Amino acid sequence: MNDLDAIVAQAQAELSTAATPADLENAKARFLGKSGRITELMKGMGALSVDEKKTRGAAINQAKQAIEAALNASRQALANAELALQLKAEALDVSLPGRQRGAGGLHPVSRTLERIEAIFASMGFDVADGPEIESDWHSFTSLNNPPNHPARSMQDTFYVDIQGEDGIAYNLRPHTSPMQVRYAHQHVARHAAAFAAAAADTTGTLKAPEIRVIAPGRTYRIDSDATHSPMFHQCEGLWLGENVSFKDLKVVFTDFCRRFFESDDLVLRFRPSFFPFTEPSAEVDIQFQSGPLAGRWLEVAGSGQVHPNVVRNMGLDPERVIGFAFGMGPDRLTMLRYGVSDLRQFFDGDLRFLSQFQ
Ligand code: PHE
Repeated sequence: MNDLDAIVAQAQAELSTAATPADLENAKARFLGKSGRITELMKGMGALSVDEKKTRGAAINQAKQAIEAALNASRQALANAELALQLKAEALDVSLPGRQRGAGGLHPVSRTLERIEAIFASMGFDVADGPEIESDWHSFTSLNNPPNHPARSMQDTFYVDIQGEDGIAYNLRPHTSPMQVRYAHQHVARHAAAFAAAAADTTGTLKAPEIRVIAPGRTYRIDSDATHSPMFHQCEGLWLGENVSFKDLKVVFTDFCRRFFESDDLVLRFRPSFFPFTEPSAEVDIQFQSGPLAGRWLEVAGSGQVHPNVVRNMGLDPERVIGFAFGMGPDRLTMLRYGVSDLRQFFDGDLRFLSQFQ
């Protein structure tokens, strides 16, 4: 083996074992670089005769080409290896099962609220929404329950660290009853012309627009046990007109309960009670005549004829406008409908419990 063959063999060996592109470039420099082995041989040719230069030059060139070929082959091999690694790293296993995106479902209390809304909508009731952080006037005073009234201690109210215009702290509404007054104000403003025309009519033929609304939503009290949660739901109902009586309350609420529970086998009892904003007032109890709850009286709502002071606070004339209100507990209705014994389960967010209602 002459000197050139030995250099080519060594170059091929070093180029083919280079593990990285940097190693490869270093190996290339050792042979083809400025002071590489081949370059040094070229420089050494100055001393040779013309004929010797020809043959020696051709031989060196051949060696150089052999090394360049080896270099290109190694470059290609390194690039192929890198691509193979990248493909492996980015490989998709198309046989893996996809990430499940479970179909969600409505919360059982939401189902109840939807049922309540649908049933009352079919009886001509509007559905209204209102704030959960409420002024003292709306939660209490407007409802005939002024500061220092003993009935205020019927509820353990959460107060919020925000002062109202009256200097009294805002509260997390302990019931949906403030919506009676809020909705009435909106309604009177919306139908101002019709109210004015009815008020001005001395013949008594023009009637003021009726108010017929339910207001479902979240309510708050400092209360927590198997049947009470600090956050719970209520649904207020209000029907005011020129001639809306306790009889209408009984008809509407009985019809609602029978439709809600899909049972005519159900009786209601209006048990005398007290609320500052209704007079007379009654708790509504229901009793199933068959099934697992048969024979027990179950309290589902407070109710009564709206107190004249409240009608006045709505901006209406209690001499002309009368009617009833009720406030029921959708959480309680949901427990009765599905046979749930601990109310807190509704709000724990445990899917093992909640998915049973889908
Ligand atoms: N707001 C009352 C309560 O929370 C219920 C009620 C509403 C009673 C409307 C009468 C009329 O207990």
